[in-house]
Amino acid sequence: MKPVYVEEIANYRGQTVTIRGWLYQKRGSGKLQFLQVRDGTGTIQCVVERSRVGDELFALADRLSQESALEVAGSVHEDQRSSLGHELHVTALRLVHEAKDYPISPKEHGVAFLMEHRHLWLRSSRQHAILRLRHQLIRACREFFDLRGFTLLDAPIFTPAACEGTTTLFQTDYFGQPAYLTQSGQLYLEAGAFAFGKVYCFGPTFRAEKSKTRRHLTEFWMIEPEVAFMDLAGDMELAEDFLEHIVQNLLEHRRPELIYLERNLAPLERVKKPFPRISYQEALDLLKSKGKEVPWGEDLGADEETVVSQNFDRPVIIHRYPAQCKAFYMKSDPADPRLALCMDVLAPEGYGEIIGGGQREDDLETLEKKIAAHNLPREAFDWYLDLRKYGSVPHAGFGLGLERTLAWICGLPHVRETIPFPRLLDKLKP
Ligand code: 4AD
Ligand code: MG
Repeated sequence: MKPVYVEEIANYRGQTVTIRGWLYQKRGSGKLQFLQVRDGTGTIQCVVERSRVGDELFALADRLSQESALEVAGSVHEDQRSSLGHELHVTALRLVHEAKDYPISPKEHGVAFLMEHRHLWLRSSRQHAILRLRHQLIRACREFFDLRGFTLLDAPIFTPAACEGTTTLFQTDYFGQPAYLTQSGQLYLEAGAFAFGKVYCFGPTFRAEKSKTRRHLTEFWMIEPEVAFMDLAGDMELAEDFLEHIVQNLLEHRRPELIYLERNLAPLERVKKPFPRISYQEALDLLKSKGKEVPWGEDLGADEETVVSQNFDRPVIIHRYPAQCKAFYMKSDPADPRLALCMDVLAPEGYGEIIGGGQREDDLETLEKKIAAHNLPREAFDWYLDLRKYGSVPHAGFGLGLERTLAWICGLPHVRETIPFPRLLDKLKP
């Protein structure tokens, strides 16, 4: 009998098919057993009736344990009560592998326990929904840039120097010389933008900050576009278009998963451009009016970002931070050189920064001074400085953190469930 996937079951109404999967849950009586069988594409209720399958198969169904692997054959019937719309009336059942004492029972478990069993936790409906959303989010991100003529250019993971600041580097030994795990592909993409015009990269990035907050991962995925001849205004517009595209795409393609997660969809439906834009100074004024005073020059922390974002019903862009709290590569604002031509996009509902970016310093001499002022080793950046010697032009880009964005879209309190195997300060296994 033809094995089929649960997600395509509607095509087989009235036919007899085989489902291959694992026992998710079970309930029943002496005459009837209801097996919830999941196969990775969905979960189907399989009805085992003693009078139809006989005593021997019924006894097998009766003693099946959670997460045992099975093959179930039966006829496909419409069932309006199930979310799938169909159920299977079982005619045959084969145990492929018996799971003994599966550690994650349907009762409540603590997060620490679930994180230790992440390799099994992935099988639960909630994790399944989140990670299906992740996949679609990745597709939507790629699609946005692919459809706009960007070239995908992968940046290296081993790098000789810091991009975002020396305090958060993971150092490793590279055949006797120090190397660092990349914090961002940006510097390489700047080379790419001058070669291809519009480029993006999408890969894992690493930050060694010893932070235990709900939005920090030590390994996370970032999608980064970089465009030649683009300024800060163009960069903000691109970020706006991009965010609108990915959120509306998930609403279109993964609405059932969002509903399963009990996500309030209204704030997501509102993610349409234009987004409000305020300067750093305006953000400080707003914070002050809410009783949160931040001294000029300091970066905004998570608490401040939450307060700012609560004043808007959609993502908000904060631009022109003081250069002193930002990375070395940022271009100074000609109108006020204390400021950098940069921007952060804050997600609504208190989720904080999900995008950081801006216009890059394109003048050789200024950039050399900035590298020195940040105490960075000039030799490591000689190739990067070359870009300012041979046809330098204004250019800009940004980076969107995939997991923070997904945590917001799913409405999750912590980023740890947004990546299959999270790497946190105290978590390297499994
Ligand atoms: O603001 P960041 O540090 O910007 C850059 O790395 C730029 N070089 C990007 C560019 O312009 N091409 O990081 C960008 C985004 C943040 O807004 C946030 O969403 C995410 O990356 N991010 C993290 N996500 C999870 N855990 C962490 N530790 C993160 N650090 C940054
Ligand atoms: Mg940032």
